[in-house]
Amino acid sequence: MDFFDYNKSGLMAEGVSVARIAKEVGTPLYIYSQKTLQRHFSAFATAFESVPHLICYSVKANSNLAVLRTFSDQGSGFDIVSGGELYRAIKAGADATKIVFSGVGKTDEEIEFAIKKKILMFNVESPQELRAINRVAKRLGTVAPFSIRVNPDVDPKTHAYISTGLKENKFGISVKDAVAEYAYALKSLKNLKAVGIDCHIGSQLTTVAPFIAALEKVKKLIVKLRKAGTEIKYLDMGGGIGITYDTEEPPLPSTYAEEVIKSTAGLDVTLVFEPGRVMAGNAGILVTKVIYTKESGKKRFVVVDAGMNDLTRPSLYGSFHAIKPVRPKGRAEVKADIVGPICESGDFLAKDRKIEEVEPGELLAVMSAGAYGYTMASNYNSRPRPAEVMVVGKEFEVIRKRETVADLIRGEHAKLELNTPASNKKGAKRGARKGLKKRGAKKYRPQSEDK
Ligand code: LLP
Repeated sequence: MDFFDYNKSGLMAEGVSVARIAKEVGTPLYIYSQKTLQRHFSAFATAFESVPHLICYSVKANSNLAVLRTFSDQGSGFDIVSGGELYRAIKAGADATKIVFSGVGKTDEEIEFAIKKKILMFNVESPQELRAINRVAKRLGTVAPFSIRVNPDVDPKTHAYISTGLKENKFGISVKDAVAEYAYALKSLKNLKAVGIDCHIGSQLTTVAPFIAALEKVKKLIVKLRKAGTEIKYLDMGGGIGITYDTEEPPLPSTYAEEVIKSTAGLDVTLVFEPGRVMAGNAGILVTKVIYTKESGKKRFVVVDAGMNDLTRPSLYGSFHAIKPVRPKGRAEVKADIVGPICESGDFLAKDRKIEEVEPGELLAVMSAGAYGYTMASNYNSRPRPAEVMVVGKEFEVIRKRETVADLIRGEHAKLELNTPASNKKGAKRGARKGLKKRGAKKYRPQSEDK
C-alpha cells in the first residue's frame, strides 16, 4: 500500500501534485512518501509486536539521511554493510546499539569504527573476518559482539544476482563450519563474544517457504550451539521480503510474521529483521521527462531524461517497473521501449511496454523506485545524479540537492604536477612538493571523520 494516487491534477504524492514538484525541482527526480515509509515500518512492527524483536532497516535500499531519520524516529535500528553506511546512520541520528553490521569484506578500519560506536553486533561472514574482529577488538582493549552469518544452502527462488543463501554464493559460513567457528571463538578468541546467529538468504522473495526452510536449519544449530556453551540471544533473519512491481504476490508482513512466530515459538530469542525493499520500494518513484519520441523500423522509442545511471535495476536485473504518465490524457496505447540518454543499448527503463502515447515535455513516473534506486545511481556518462524529495502530507522538501556539473569533477585535477624534467630536478621537486601540499594530497589512508 502506498500514497501515490491519481486525482484531477494527475499523479499525486500524498497531498502534493507530482507535476508541481517536478516543475519546481526539475527532472529526473526521486520522490518519496514519508507516510508510505512509516506505514510499511508500522505494518512490520505490528506484525511482530507479540514477540521480542528488533527491526534493523537495511540502509543499502535507500540511505538518504531523511529516510533513515524517518525510520529511526519510529524506533528502527539499522543493518549496515560499510563504514559509509554506519557514518550515514549516525549522522541521521541512529542509536548505534541497534545497528548490525553485515557484509563479506569488512576492513580493519570499518571494524574499528563500528567497535568504537558500540554497535549491537557484527554479522560475521568468514573465519578470517572473525579473527580480524578479535584482533581489532584486542588492540582497542575491548570485547566485540558477534553473530555468524550462516549460509543454510536454501534456494530463495529469486534472481541469481540477489540470491545469497546457496552454498555457491559468497555469503556466510556453512552450518558445519559455523559450529566449529563458534567453538573456536568461545575457547580461543577472548576479545569476541557470541550474542546471536544470522541468516539472510536473498532479496525479493515472493514466498515464505524458503525463509522457513532456512529457519529450520538455523533452529537446529541454535540448540547445538547452546549445548556447547555458546550464548545465542539474537536470531537475525535478514531481509528479503519481496514487493509487487508487476504481478508478484509477495507475502504480507503479517503472513510472514505468523509463520516465523510459529516456527520460533519457545526458542527464547530476540528476533532481528533487516528489511530494505519492503520498507522503501513502493514508497518512492522516479520522475522523468520525455525528451524525444522516435520510430526506427517497427520499433518505437520514448527517450526520457533518466537513464540506467539513475535507475539501474531494469538494465542490471531485467527488472520490471511500472511506468505511468503523470498527467494521463486517455490517448491510445502504443508499445514502446522507454530508454535513457546513455550511450548503451542496455540503457532502458522498459522494453516493449504498453504506454499511452506521450509527447516531448511530458512527465512519466517510474513506480516502485524507492529501494535500490538512488543508492545504485552513478555518474556514468558524466550525468549529475538526480535530486531527492520527501513529501509529507501537503508539503515537500528537497532532501538531497540535484548534483551539478561542478560536483562531477570534485577531487579531480587536469594538470599533472609530477616530478618529471630531469634537467631541473631541484625546481621540479620543489614544485611537485608544493603542488601536493596545495591540494592537500597525503599518503592515502582510509579514514572516517568520526574515529
Ligand atoms: N540484509 C542483508 C545482509 C542483505 O544483503 C540485504 C540485501 C538485506 C538485508 C535487505 O534485503 P531486502 O529486504 O531489501 O530484500 N540491488 C538489488 C537488491 C540487492 C539486495 C542486497 N542485499 C535490487 O535492486 O533488486
